[in-house]
Amino acid sequence: MCGIVGYVGKKPVKKILIDGLRELEYRGYDSAGIAVLQNHQFSLFKAVGKLINLEEKAHSFETTGFSVGIGHTRWATHGKPTELNAHPHLGNNSYVVHNGIIENYQELKTMLIGQGTRFLSQTDTEVIVHLFEFHLKTAYTPFEAFTQTLHELSGAYAVLLVNASVNDTIFFAKHGSPMIVGRNHEGETLFGSSDAALIGKCHEVIYLEDGHYGYASVEGIALFDDKNQAVNLNFTPLSENKLSAQKEGYRFFMEKEIYEQTTVLSDTLLGRLRDESIHFEELDPKLFDGINEIKLCACGTSYHAALSASYLLERHAKIKTSVEIASEFRYREPFLTPDTLFIVISQSGETADTLESLKMAKKFGLKTMVICNVDNSSMVRLADASVLTRAGIEKGVASTKAFATQVCVLWMLSLFLANERKTLDATEIRRQIRLLRALPATVAVDPALHEQLRRLSKRYLHGHGFFFIGRDVFFPLALEGALKLKEISYLHAEGYPSGEMKHGPIALADPELFTIALLPQHKLYEKTKSNIEELSARDATICSISPLDFDKADDHIRTKSTEDYMLEFFEMMVVLQLLSMEIAIRLGNDVDMPRNLAKSVTVE
Ligand code: M6R
Repeated sequence: MCGIVGYVGKKPVKKILIDGLRELEYRGYDSAGIAVLQNHQFSLFKAVGKLINLEEKAHSFETTGFSVGIGHTRWATHGKPTELNAHPHLGNNSYVVHNGIIENYQELKTMLIGQGTRFLSQTDTEVIVHLFEFHLKTAYTPFEAFTQTLHELSGAYAVLLVNASVNDTIFFAKHGSPMIVGRNHEGETLFGSSDAALIGKCHEVIYLEDGHYGYASVEGIALFDDKNQAVNLNFTPLSENKLSAQKEGYRFFMEKEIYEQTTVLSDTLLGRLRDESIHFEELDPKLFDGINEIKLCACGTSYHAALSASYLLERHAKIKTSVEIASEFRYREPFLTPDTLFIVISQSGETADTLESLKMAKKFGLKTMVICNVDNSSMVRLADASVLTRAGIEKGVASTKAFATQVCVLWMLSLFLANERKTLDATEIRRQIRLLRALPATVAVDPALHEQLRRLSKRYLHGHGFFFIGRDVFFPLALEGALKLKEISYLHAEGYPSGEMKHGPIALADPELFTIALLPQHKLYEKTKSNIEELSARDATICSISPLDFDKADDHIRTKSTEDYMLEFFEMMVVLQLLSMEIAIRLGNDVDMPRNLAKSVTVE
């Protein structure tokens, strides 16, 4: 995903900008650029690919004395990853960098073209700089032109803009995408789209709020809110310790990553939702020509994402779908047919079994695709096509936000294929796109719910085992809930389809058997309820998760009533993640680095 940095000060600006961009590299990007303003002159460098390419281009460029600079790493959404589409974007005398999406860019572009503006790129971002210069013709000051520009933008943005007539100034704005401004004892001002870019360079920062805008110059920072009122500069100290700073006040990375799901899901959706269809810029529709079957293959949590997707792909796209555990697939001499698209799913892109399965599928001549969180990983390099999940770096060994983004991408893929194959009508696709838009809000952690789970966790520290049960997509979610719990609490837990309990496991039922029951309102409610009642009748201890009351439960976690089972899926996912984490914390375990586990399993 895109990253922004900015600098106002006297040090060599190139190094500061590129170092800052390097700290944002983990988010993934496909091009980068910097623009430096000194003595009313701009210097611009852009390069496709990694930062090293940008460094080579800017090799002989140095500054001494005061300058301002802005930099960007771009993750292509509107327009391909080319130098022309890379930021900063130029007007006549100004440059802009931007994260987010300007939703009304087409309308603004048409207006500006009508006024004689020439556009060089395919990006939505370029309208910002031209709109600014359009207003500059009549505004009293560049800042007034900047303010007028912001009033006309809709969508999500974090923006830095520099104009040659104001040599010492960066204009900034934040609306829906993160932006942080920091300062240090040397009187320098820095900007970053994440504090990772500012650690070690600033001692205090302001996490800008939506609607905040202003300018930073040699004289300091001026900040305004969405009602154009001046805002006091409330700086908070920035830790110098990279690791603890990156935890941003959370006790564990896992906790931070659970809370981050709302942001990373917005990133995952960015540029991929149209009103009527799903758009994957990275996918050539020809990939699906001649395909009659999909085989999903993965390990661990990624396997659970695959299993959830198998319901959605068959239900929405009416395409035969099977799911394979990679370590099994490799050695079971599978029968493969050339009309099968082989999709591997992996957070790291390096898991040995999944990687080998991908190699095998390629050897059989199958078309291949990877859904992955790490650009340039082995799987991304190997597969015919890749879709990146954009979860950002995941540090907790127990995967949380990566799972959320995997299921989100796979849900989108099922709708993409449904559209291609005409298996869902337009109204239903539109409805589901509306649901996808609601995902970031759905996974936002409610502090009261978190507190309830923290309190509840003390009752689930013993027992002879946990069963997580659910039906349909809630079965893979139950598997994932059980995996989360065992990974970090070291308690025995199993995921099971609710309807299967009476075929054996119900023999274990007694008060020391804890059942975490997923009881969604909008998917097989009555059937699941009967299965839970059967366990309750045999004295199992039941913790139900549902938007509806359930009087047979010992503990009940109430989710919000949502209009569709997929939103219930994501809401319950957050509950399961938090519950496991709180149990593990009470047990005194190292939540982020549980015993015996590694983040990336590169051996079979
Ligand atoms: O990087 P991958 O998604 O390929 O990793 C697969 C599994 O090793 C991983 O999901 C593992 O199960 C996690 N620890 C789950 O929390």
